[in-house]
Amino acid sequence: MSRHTRATLEPGMHKQLLDVQERLATGTLPQWVLTDPTVFNLEVERIFARTWYFIGHESELPNPGDYVTRWYINDPVVLTRTKSGELRAYLNSCMHRGTMLCTADSGNRKAFTCPYHGWTYSLDGDLIGVIADDKVYGAEMDREQWALRQLPRLESFHGMIFASLDPDVQPLDEYLGGLGWYLDILIGRTDKKMEVHGAPLRWVVDANWKIGSENFGGDAYHVAMTHRSTVELGLSPKDPLFTSYGHQVVLDQGHSMSVITKSPKLGPTPPYQGQPEELWSNFERNLTPDQLGVWRDAAVFHGTCFPNLSFLSPMHGAGGHAHLTNFLTLRQWRPIGPDKVEIWSWFLADREAPEEFKKESYKRYVATFGPAGTLEQDDVEIWTRITDASKGLMARDKDLSYGNVMNYVMGLDRVDPDPDWPGPGTAYPTTFMEAAQRSFYEVWNSLLMVD
Ligand code: FES
Ligand SMILES: [Fe+2]
Repeated sequence: MSRHTRATLEPGMHKQLLDVQERLATGTLPQWVLTDPTVFNLEVERIFARTWYFIGHESELPNPGDYVTRWYINDPVVLTRTKSGELRAYLNSCMHRGTMLCTADSGNRKAFTCPYHGWTYSLDGDLIGVIADDKVYGAEMDREQWALRQLPRLESFHGMIFASLDPDVQPLDEYLGGLGWYLDILIGRTDKKMEVHGAPLRWVVDANWKIGSENFGGDAYHVAMTHRSTVELGLSPKDPLFTSYGHQVVLDQGHSMSVITKSPKLGPTPPYQGQPEELWSNFERNLTPDQLGVWRDAAVFHGTCFPNLSFLSPMHGAGGHAHLTNFLTLRQWRPIGPDKVEIWSWFLADREAPEEFKKESYKRYVATFGPAGTLEQDDVEIWTRITDASKGLMARDKDLSYGNVMNYVMGLDRVDPDPDWPGPGTAYPTTFMEAAQRSFYEVWNSLLMVD
């Protein structure tokens, strides 16, 4: 048994997870799994410790010595760029007595010195300074033994940095699989790629992490109701199906994404989500005709990289469809307990985009998502209610509905995948589907049962 598998699966829990598996096959999910503390411990040990976990973007650390502090679930992490320009991620904890080395969100350092007894580590993690070392430890102290603990794996995709606690985890490329094709469109589409603006916004919500993952992974259905104020203000169309036009794409490994295309009632709209025309040839250099085709008609992309990194690329603004501005946000649902999630939200823009566009894009992001964002407020209020209503005894015998598709076809698999969809994955010709959510929970369930 590896050091990552301390949570053991009691025979009773194993039976319950098998029961969850059976229910998922019929399109239901027992509500208790959302907030059960035993399930939460298993998730940490069997999902988060064994998959890839997003910890930042390369543009957040452009120079040698730059660092940011992050969390890998409950492990504090310092991610830094070494003198030779390489990225390294360490457990942010001194090897002597465990003190957290860095408490700032970000900065630039030549070395990390512990505030307790002063042990000093290089950007490469080596122990390079011990106060009064010879006199305290003798000349024979083996400093190599006390180098900072590195996160076993660290890999990037289009500048997105992921870490894993599992040294044997499959390569990141392979893990992302077909999702990479869609991430090319969202984050890998220009020569100089994208950069993060500002520090990531973060705040804590009394909700279970899975609710955010599955909402962004495939829930276009909630928009007309949860975000009803946008309809009432005239910012969204009155057509209750306006977010249903498009495709829900189910990908391997629990990933999923949806592309909402423009409502036929909206009339002519600009391609590439209204991105500035001066970028179009840049997009055309970096994307395939199929990728460009998918993007050309898109209004919104949203999805989830299993288990807890979501992305959203919508168009928002006031004053008619021609004035909507696109932005991209990456959001991580960092579980800090069965009923608490810390939301981390990054804003990214193409480096080569006009400054004016970047500014407008950032404004739209802050107005709609993040702790002050109107749409985010709508969402997390609902997620808190789900979490609060899932902890009681009666929720233990209650199944949630995960089997509907649009147009009152209530059975599973009644909508056939679109054979003409040009991208990877199984693409259904509507976004009012729950195939993505079922797939998320199927992968989640199977991972929980692996010793
Ligand atoms: S705890 Fe860091 S030097 Fe003692
Ligand atoms: Fe929402």
